[in-house]
Amino acid sequence: MKFFLDTANLEELRKGAAWGVVDGVTTNPSLIAKEAVPMAEQVRRICEIVDGPVSAEVVATDYEGMLREGRANAALHPNIVVKCPLTRAGIQACSALSKEGIRVNVTLCFSPGQALLAAKAGAWCVSPFVGRLDDLGLEGMQVIRDICRIYSNYGFPTRVLAASLRSPLHVVQAAEAGAHIGTMPFKVLDQLFNHPLTGQGLDQFLKDYAKAFQGAGSGS
Ligand code: E4P
Repeated sequence: MKFFLDTANLEELRKGAAWGVVDGVTTNPSLIAKEAVPMAEQVRRICEIVDGPVSAEVVATDYEGMLREGRANAALHPNIVVKCPLTRAGIQACSALSKEGIRVNVTLCFSPGQALLAAKAGAWCVSPFVGRLDDLGLEGMQVIRDICRIYSNYGFPTRVLAASLRSPLHVVQAAEAGAHIGTMPFKVLDQLFNHPLTGQGLDQFLKDYAKAFQGAGSGS
């Protein structure tokens, strides 16, 4: 499963990229607004840090506006993937932009039926939101499992991008379900490192080594 960072924060992206485990980035209008830098400028900076697909969302809600913004976003950098919402206009724009060879991430997907529409419209990927379904007391991960099975049944090339992942467990469950990509906040990527036995084990190794070689020269 590819790991994308779900952030527009350059510091977080630099840290994640330095670890060598970040394959791409997703942004949305709320994440861009938090950084208080206009979308085009921020997305260009992100593309300089992470060499992989970077999703840039349209804010127009009508078909013509989405086409215009989608084309402009795609022209910012070859790594841009245009994000369109799963509305009627968004699916229409996805279909048109995909035919022009522009990669589209259909976002705000909450059901397998919606994911079928994204695949039919030629989306490069679809983003089902796990955490937001969980927030309603539903099982968000089941939607990921269902979409993966349906896409595989028909050989749809559209990737399943598990979004709104809120914990390391979500990341692991998305990988078990067969999601092609998981996008996560920096905090969740950081939490994936943690296991108490790793820290304890390392402490013990270093103590044992220091005890054995203390005062014994280079210790090689
Ligand atoms: C990703 O593309 C989505 O914008 C994001 O994962 C939403 O996550 P949230 O529900 O935690 O805001």
